[in-house]
Amino acid sequence: MAQVPSNIAFIKYWGKRDEKKQWPTNDSLSMTLSGMFTRTTARLTDAHDFSFALNGTPLAPDSAKGAKIYRHLHFLAHELGTRQKLDFTSFNSFPTACGIASSASGFGALTLAALAAFTDSKNLEELQQQGFDAKKLAQLSRHGSGSACRSMMGGIVQWQAGATPESQAVSQLFSREHWDLNDLIVILDDTPKAVSSSDGHRAAVKSPLFAERMERLPHRFASLVEAITARDIDKFGLLLEEEALNMHAVAESSDEGLRYMTEKTHAFINKFKELRKRWGLQAYFTCDAGPNVHLICEAKTVENLTKILHQEYTQLKILHDEIGEGPSLQVADQGIGQ
Ligand code: DP6
Repeated sequence: MAQVPSNIAFIKYWGKRDEKKQWPTNDSLSMTLSGMFTRTTARLTDAHDFSFALNGTPLAPDSAKGAKIYRHLHFLAHELGTRQKLDFTSFNSFPTACGIASSASGFGALTLAALAAFTDSKNLEELQQQGFDAKKLAQLSRHGSGSACRSMMGGIVQWQAGATPESQAVSQLFSREHWDLNDLIVILDDTPKAVSSSDGHRAAVKSPLFAERMERLPHRFASLVEAITARDIDKFGLLLEEEALNMHAVAESSDEGLRYMTEKTHAFINKFKELRKRWGLQAYFTCDAGPNVHLICEAKTVENLTKILHQEYTQLKILHDEIGEGPSLQVADQGIGQ
């Protein structure tokens, strides 16, 4: 069984230079989570094609979600030069209908389970001996979904765009132990998102704000790394928010006018900022390609922040997670992918 956590981006991957090669326009940085993960099991099968079920429901290759998954499986089989087919079962640890994107953990776990089964590896060490270390796993999972590559390592992870599609590199910049960051995910809308992040990447590069974003990003990236190095939560938080708002400004100003943040998101952020000021809370927000808000803070802030949020909003749905170790793999002896 392959277990791969989700991640939350501090500097967003937003725009692709080459869609086919999954080459991003910019370096990105994220925190690998711990409790929000996907578990995937792969079994060898004599069937003529792969099969895949998510949370007990089979996904057809011609469904919108299924197409991306089966394409990735055929890509992996081609990379390994195998015709072997596999039967996958996959489960998310977090509620599916919570509007939280699961593509990073999903494609990460799919890649890891597939490679373990193709190479008959029982754990990460055996897989590494077969030539698939974390960097190689990151490189392969990127082809399924870009953000999945950062979930292949724990702590705080950088994905460098590099000068060519081939020179992209994924590496851990800080271990989990460096900083006890937590993520309170405020679920404002639990319906699946209407616009995929892939559409967002396509639209981003056409935004009139995109060139300016590219110009400012290296400095924002370096300052954010400085703040993380110094564990300076306030400096870190202001840069985190600047980056999230910039990514969403790019999405909204594109021709397509993509709006991931809703009225509810804006109303919540305004209220949250008011509460932060009133109670002196050291917590900061970011949002991915969806309406829900991630509040990032140190472990010591979680209890107070949760209490204040629940006082203000009696019905608020909050998922709590923290910085994590990265993927794990355990395959039982009796059958491949157990
Ligand atoms: C907003 O990795 O979902 O979460 O490569 O097309 O599958 P594809 O995109 P995806 O994009 C994630 C975008 C983001 C920011 C981030 O995680 O860096």
